Amino acid sequence: MRTSSTQVKSNLAFNPIRSLRFRYHRLLGLLAIVSSGINRQGHVDAIGRPIVQVFPGSSICLGRDVTIISASFATALGVNHPVVLRTLRPGARIKIGDRVGISGGSICAAQLVEIGEESMLGANVTIADTDFHSLRPHYRSGHTHPSIAVEDVIIGKRVFVGANSIILKGVTIGDNSVIGAGSVVTKSVPANSIAAGNPCRIIREFTAQEVTL
Ligand SMILES: CC(C)(COP(=O)(O)OP(=O)(O)OC[C@H]1O[C@@H](n2cnc3c(N)ncnc32)[C@H](O)[C@@H]1OP(=O)(O)O)[C@@H](O)C(=O)NCCC(=O)NCCS
Repeated sequence: MRTSSTQVKSNLAFNPIRSLRFRYHRLLGLLAIVSSGINRQGHVDAIGRPIVQVFPGSSICLGRDVTIISASFATALGVNHPVVLRTLRPGARIKIGDRVGISGGSICAAQLVEIGEESMLGANVTIADTDFHSLRPHYRSGHTHPSIAVEDVIIGKRVFVGANSIILKGVTIGDNSVIGAGSVVTKSVPANSIAAGNPCRIIREFTAQEVTL
């Protein structure tokens, strides 16, 4: 996540080896992004090599100043695996807004996953707009049967998703909301709310004062 990366760096005295390590992993990240077929709107800070798959006829679009951390040394909690950005079908779209931060997350779209500007995904968050497999037992092994459920996932602006949460198909999360660590989000969460748990439920709503500058 952007903040964690900044914190980790600023709390430490200058260390040339560490600085080289950041440069090296930024280079790996940049090469992976540039060679992936992702559409970039501006600078992307990728630390470590993400796993990217753009299915033919689909798109992944990153806004300006997006931070993608795939290396454990660069973020406070560490990551379980590199960031995964994957479209699964022709026409699928992943749209990530300006200044979004992702650490070790997985985002998979068969249709649409959209993340609004300045949202932060804590370590190892999973977001998918599909069940990947049919629930019908005779069609479960494939990935293409029409009975496989697919519904857009839309995450608003300035949403903070706690570490290790899973956001499932059809979920919309409104602007400014917070999802607690380890949540399984099965239903939409309105704007300006804190929600947590499995299944994810609203804990409280922000006051008007809390969500104003
Ligand atoms: C959701 C969160 C922001 C709530 O913080 P808070 O407003 O201080 O809330 P509280 O700790 O007072 O908890 C309020 C209630 O929600 C429950 N709760 C809080 N976080 C929860 C979570 N992640 N999952 C399930 N329940 C949770 C508490 O048990 C408490 O329940 P109770 O009223 O029945 O006792 C915080 O717990 C959290 O999960 N932060 C995310 C941290 C994180 O992952 N950072 C990313 C690092 S990369």
